[in-house]
Amino acid sequence: MKLIDVLVIHGPNLNMLGCREPTHYGCDTLDAINQSLKDLALTLGVRLHAFQSNHEGVLVERIHQAVDERIVGIVINPAAYTHSSIAIRDALLAVAIPFVEVHLSNVHKREPFRHRSMLADKAMGVVAGFGGQSYLLGLQGLVASLVRVPPK
Ligand code: DQA
Repeated sequence: MKLIDVLVIHGPNLNMLGCREPTHYGCDTLDAINQSLKDLALTLGVRLHAFQSNHEGVLVERIHQAVDERIVGIVINPAAYTHSSIAIRDALLAVAIPFVEVHLSNVHKREPFRHRSMLADKAMGVVAGFGGQSYLLGLQGLVASLVRVPPK
């Protein structure tokens, strides 16, 4: 089976998962989430690349690098940058790689400043509120949509 390459990007503070505000984010560590994603990816014919950074510019550069790696889709939890980062929005538009935005928590049930996303209107879809499962649902949705709209 020919594998497709998908990049998963985790934004700031997500390296702290497991002990970070478990009422919002659950108890799964980032490593556990990445392992579940890799297990699911195998069944979907996906080669998964996972990346986390606490720095906006580093996230922008990782998105740029995706073009050379023939990444065909991105699952991104931009974390707090969701609500502020025009730079990450522009990077995703610049590479023109389809992406899905995911959140562990239901951002719409939380503070008003978390209701705004700088990316959502350009995303293929948004999944929020299912803890670590949000990533798995996001990956499934992305791959199903890519099959319907094959890459250029
Ligand atoms: C988050 C929600 C954001 O508002 C917050 O800043 C995060 C995590 C989530 O996954 O629920 O860091 O993206």
